[in-house]
Amino acid sequence: MTTTQGPSNPDVLARARPLLRLAPGTALPPVADGILDLLDPAFAPTATQRSLDTVATAWLYDVMRDRIVRWIGMPAFANEVHAVVERLGLAAGDVVLDLACGHGNFTAEFARRVGPTGLVVGLDIASSMLARAAARVQRERLDNVLLVRGDALALPFADAAFAKLNCSGGLHQMPDLARALAELARVAKPGARLAASGLARTGADEDGVRDWLRRRFALHFVPVARLAQAIEHAGFEQVETRMAGAWFAYASARRRLDP
Ligand SMILES: C[S@@+](CC[C@H](N)C(=O)[O-])C[C@H]1O[C@@H](n2cnc3c(N)ncnc32)[C@H](O)[C@@H]1O
Repeated sequence: MTTTQGPSNPDVLARARPLLRLAPGTALPPVADGILDLLDPAFAPTATQRSLDTVATAWLYDVMRDRIVRWIGMPAFANEVHAVVERLGLAAGDVVLDLACGHGNFTAEFARRVGPTGLVVGLDIASSMLARAAARVQRERLDNVLLVRGDALALPFADAAFAKLNCSGGLHQMPDLARALAELARVAKPGARLAASGLARTGADEDGVRDWLRRRFALHFVPVARLAQAIEHAGFEQVETRMAGAWFAYASARRRLDP
């Protein structure tokens, strides 16, 4: 096991190792530039996923994100973090998965809250976004974060690995939402807390421009009622969803205690 140029504390990899599940016959690659790359080389990104994986778009997302969310009626980032932290019941020592972590905005906030005895694993498919997350982790001297490149539809984690799971702003990019939720349920401990959010709509089905965006770019405005059902179907209970503005929804739930 080698660690190269990783901004994270090398101990982080040792602490996170029991959480990882590698494909049979696969050796753990080195952490390079702060990122453990476990993405299947055969992974084929959708148009939306590709569009966020350039240096320019990752930079633009990083600098514009907090402005854009307010234009579409979402809360300011500080309030958003506060709400997610409450929904997760985040505490010192927690082991957290931040799925679709992007440039690491939530990852870093969680890392500060769980403290040195806790651990935050941020996972994303986009190298460009993860590079920004790695720079943030280094800049903010966070030594309890592991950044992983991987696919939400085939998570490289062991069953029941996490007690707290977050997926902010990622649900609408999943080409197969049911599978992404099933993977979240698989890696969640019984009773684990989930917080998630993404582009959504109140109507029953996607239509018009939204339908075109889904077909052309695999960008979904998930009907919020269907989102609640999908989360429950995946194995969660106490599901709550709510729209924030006209285009975005938040969800929270608890992993069922029985399988
Ligand atoms: C809109 S960004 C959200 C970033 C951050 N969580 C936030 O709320 O600002 C969505 C992220 O989802 C990632 N993503 C999309 N599909 C994914 C997948 N199948 N597995 C992992 N990450 C994915 C993208 O690369 C992108 O970084």
